[in-house]
Amino acid sequence: MARRRIGWLSWAPPRAGVALALGAVGLLLVGLAASAQDLPSRCTGLCRANRAGHFVALSDVFRPEGAVDGDDLLARVDRTPAGALPPDYAPRDLVDLETMRPARPHRCTPPAHQCLRREAARAYRALATAMREDGHRPHVGSAFRDYRVQCSTFLGWAADGGFCDATTSSALPGHSEHQLGTTIDLFTYAWTNDGDKWREGYGCSPGGQWIAEHAAEHGFVLSYPLHPDYRREGSSCAGEEARIDPRTGYRYEPWHLRFVGVEAAARFEAAREASGPGTLGELTLGQWLGQRSSSAEARVTAPVCDGCNCDRCATLEAAEGPCEAPALALGEDGAPRGAEGPPRFVSARLLREGEALIVEARVAVPANTFTQPPVITEASGVRYRRGRRGAELPGIGPRTFTPLEGAHRLVIGFDDRDDWPWSAALVAPSRTGIANGLAERIVAAPGELTVRVPLDGVAPGTRVRVGLAEGRRARALFRGRAP
Ligand code: DAL
Ligand code: ZN
Repeated sequence: MARRRIGWLSWAPPRAGVALALGAVGLLLVGLAASAQDLPSRCTGLCRANRAGHFVALSDVFRPEGAVDGDDLLARVDRTPAGALPPDYAPRDLVDLETMRPARPHRCTPPAHQCLRREAARAYRALATAMREDGHRPHVGSAFRDYRVQCSTFLGWAADGGFCDATTSSALPGHSEHQLGTTIDLFTYAWTNDGDKWREGYGCSPGGQWIAEHAAEHGFVLSYPLHPDYRREGSSCAGEEARIDPRTGYRYEPWHLRFVGVEAAARFEAAREASGPGTLGELTLGQWLGQRSSSAEARVTAPVCDGCNCDRCATLEAAEGPCEAPALALGEDGAPRGAEGPPRFVSARLLREGEALIVEARVAVPANTFTQPPVITEASGVRYRRGRRGAELPGIGPRTFTPLEGAHRLVIGFDDRDDWPWSAALVAPSRTGIANGLAERIVAAPGELTVRVPLDGVAPGTRVRVGLAEGRRARALFRGRAP
């Protein structure tokens, strides 16, 4: 699917743009409902008249005492609730990129005034000089955006393609690296003169390739790289379809560069190289920054509860959110609260659908439970075939998944073997296969779930076992014969 971005939406829409944005989102977004009287005036458009009163959990986008220290060049700012900056945060050393003069945050309104923190601005100017020397003319799409500008930017995207689509390529206010004043969307004139600039193809254009190769020399890294699954076969360029990268929660952005300093950029690039570029283990900047966190538990990739992701979201504020039962509730430190207990097996049956054997199991999953890929749902299209290793991912091929500690799975085996060759994530049937590109734990859907696993090549009469597993420990809970 091509992105339907239009130029002005990359920065703060002018006043008329905001009005247009709000108007076009229309009934999706409401003004100040009674239940939203405490909504920060900075971004009332995030309020929506859903059952819970809001489209987002407020404390996930509005944390006056935000856990993230924006002055830290290595601050982790992302889609997770713990990855939010305080709404009032703005760096104190912003300069105008043109003049290098100090600039007040509210004056830094792209595209008229592009600002960065002084050190990042100096590094950018050196990078731009190097680009020009190599024959590219740099074009800054957007640099510092404060909370309010990010709000109008996000709402502009929502007006264009709907709220949920906007979340795939635009950060909720408080959650954008642009608010750090170290991040820049960088294009070349050759690219921007050639149509809509927000196309993944930029990564493989001469300018995009130059950036990928040289940005780190100047202390900049790409926060949203191309996921290995989305490469065009036999190349490192993006294929046709732009999809969400499960590692970052956003689509590929070959223009989005974050300054972390030359030394940190070199360390990150070395770690990325060691992680296996092109494999599922390939490290992103966010994952690398997360490794600095003292608690491994705090490294959750679940997005904030924004009404689009209720079965997989995490929230700091369970009471206000749009998801009645948030999948993952976080404590004030951003670490997940524990589940009440392990998932409980309810029932299972074996059915035949055409040639395929279907294992259908019902499992009661408490909130705050982790599971892991493969996600096997109708939407993911993933299947197993007896005699073949791994799950068959449409358009990608077979993939095996190592059991992860703390992740609960449905497991399937045969009575003529003592292992569990097949497994499935405990997720809602509506989940797509995007998370199958992640070698990490994912959030399980809370409630009583039906998990259906299609198995090809299983002969009638075969004895099948079904169970639940956590990590490598599995328990058989059902036995039956394939019809
Ligand atoms: N486009 C990136 C995700 C942002 O809005 O910060
Ligand atoms: Zn950006």
